[in-house]
Amino acid sequence: MKHLFFIAFINSFFLSNLFSEDIDNSFITKLEYGAMLYANPRGIGCVSCHKKGNKSVIIAKYKEINKKTKKLEEKVIIAPAINKVSFEVFLEKMNADKTESKIMPTYFLTDDELKSLYHYIKNINKK
Ligand code: HEC
Repeated sequence: MKHLFFIAFINSFFLSNLFSEDIDNSFITKLEYGAMLYANPRGIGCVSCHKKGNKSVIIAKYKEINKKTKKLEEKVIIAPAINKVSFEVFLEKMNADKTESKIMPTYFLTDDELKSLYHYIKNINKK
């Protein structure tokens, strides 16, 4: 009888542990959802400019006449690495009406989408 009681105790311990764990039973994980948004954020995918997101990427090169010197100058447009930005900078950029460069598009993502996307970006290097 003592043994039975002990077994029941152990069992309930394991069971409660199993169920109290933060089980992610959503259809896809936050990381997978973020990855999906990175590729397809209802607009041009972040991936088309930022590539993997862990390095700056030259997205265009062009020549422009410098109005002062009248010389042709080579210019580059760079999409910066984004895997180390703070959540504040990320949010600011994602909620801007117009980005500084006017090259990065504006997006209309919900808070949940932004959180998942940020979660993905922060984990780009860790895979
Ligand atoms: C058409 C190219 C393009 C696309 C698409 C694009 N970006 Fe950008 N992004 C840029 C450029 C260029 C900059 C730097 C200039 C600026 O901030 O406007 C930038 C800057 C950023 C920054 C700020 C980095 C810093 O250090 O300040 C973040 C964060 C960012 N992008 C995230 C994203 C995310 C997330 C997406 C997709 C939802 C995305 N970008 C899509 C071109 C792009």
